[in-house]
Amino acid sequence: MKIDLSNPLIFNKIYLPLLDESKRYILLYGGRDSAKSYFAAQKVIIDTMMKSYSRFILVRKIFADIKDSQLQTIKDILKLWGILDLFKINENPIRITFIKNGNMILARGLDKEAKTKSIKDPTGVWYEEANEISYNEFIKTTTSLRGGIIQEILTFNPELETEWINNYFFPAKESYEKKDGKFNWVESTRKDAIILHTTYKDNAFCTLQSAEKLEDLKIDKDLNYYRIYTLGLWGGALEGVIFNNWKIIKEVPERARLVGYGLDWGFTNDPTAIIAVYLEEKKLILHEIEYAQGLSNLEIAEIMEAKGISKNDEIVADSAEPKSISYIYNQGYNIEAAIKGPDSIVHGIEKMKEFEIKITEQSRHLVHEFKNYRWKIDRAGKILNKPIDDWNHGIDAIRYVVLNKLTIKKTTMTGLKDVRL
Ligand SMILES: Nc1ncnc2c1ncn2[C@@H]1O[C@H](COP(=O)(O)OP(=O)(O)O)[C@@H](O)[C@H]1O
Ligand SMILES: [Mg+2]
Repeated sequence: MKIDLSNPLIFNKIYLPLLDESKRYILLYGGRDSAKSYFAAQKVIIDTMMKSYSRFILVRKIFADIKDSQLQTIKDILKLWGILDLFKINENPIRITFIKNGNMILARGLDKEAKTKSIKDPTGVWYEEANEISYNEFIKTTTSLRGGIIQEILTFNPELETEWINNYFFPAKESYEKKDGKFNWVESTRKDAIILHTTYKDNAFCTLQSAEKLEDLKIDKDLNYYRIYTLGLWGGALEGVIFNNWKIIKEVPERARLVGYGLDWGFTNDPTAIIAVYLEEKKLILHEIEYAQGLSNLEIAEIMEAKGISKNDEIVADSAEPKSISYIYNQGYNIEAAIKGPDSIVHGIEKMKEFEIKITEQSRHLVHEFKNYRWKIDRAGKILNKPIDDWNHGIDAIRYVVLNKLTIKKTTMTGLKDVRL
């Protein structure tokens, strides 16, 4: 089979030089829909087919996410190129074999015991959403890869400039970032790394609809958001991020005491979020139980049962849906409505900030929310005392528990009235 590299119906031009790049680290970062993941998948496939020996590992923080992201993209491309039948695809465990030469693509999640170390003679790794991965996990992985020539591709959005990737690979952003997002190659501080910055404008396959959505961020959301996801500029932790002092932990410590579960009801476009809130001294320990769209009340009750929420555990839910609260209550659960008041959002945030916050690494949506939940910024760039109405489903759920259970006010199931203890 021949792959015509100059065919603009197959490749985005800007990425082409990377097909025969020999540096160890290839960083593909920037705005959304800029074809970062798509190109990474193309490169992995081409290496697998062209090299006499190739063994790529698909890596993500959470193993379960690989199937719908990296694996799906690779399958889509094989299908589009009409070469799906030249491969043998195993999904459990994930193993894609190019039948002709036996080269393989494997997968590892950093949440699983079996780490990359257990894969014999890998030649490459593709870290998808590399900014979800901690510095320690990255170092452990990259140093575990031994053998001949190894190449590691990292794909990510530049969400927080304080992230390790920025420190590890990038010079000061003032030296290369252009305000309009129109720049591509960035010289890394490391000799063994090459960095490509892209936005949706570099992706000839980005649909008009996606492009419009990204441009709309400028109007809908705060500017920081637009700068990160549309222009691919590093997000500033100081520009309005509400929670900038929290840490990821492996699991809920044994000594932590369960305070209760927060529940934020999903609507058509929003997820239903259930978060377990624990306390260990002055530390708030947060663990995501569920975070999914389109759940019915029946399904929510089933999930609660399956996840081991007992009928005695306290659940605090958004008061905006009394019918749903009644439903769960009638299933025998100890559920109550969250206290709401004119300032309850800001008040709740302040209360949360009184604690040291630790989030379990399994709580991936929640972590995303903590990274992205921001104060509104007005057009003049002034930070307002009002959060954006986004990235707040899990955080709202936590706020309900904190306000109802960890402040001196108490509410009742029926009355929603404040009763002083
Ligand atoms: N070379 C390509 N051929 C066909 N479609 C592409 C190509 N590159 C990107 N796309 C399309 O653009 C979309 C966005 O690309 P993706 O890699 O998911 O962006 P990013 O990872 O940068 O957010 C993909 O879903 C895919 O439909
Ligand atoms: Mg992507």
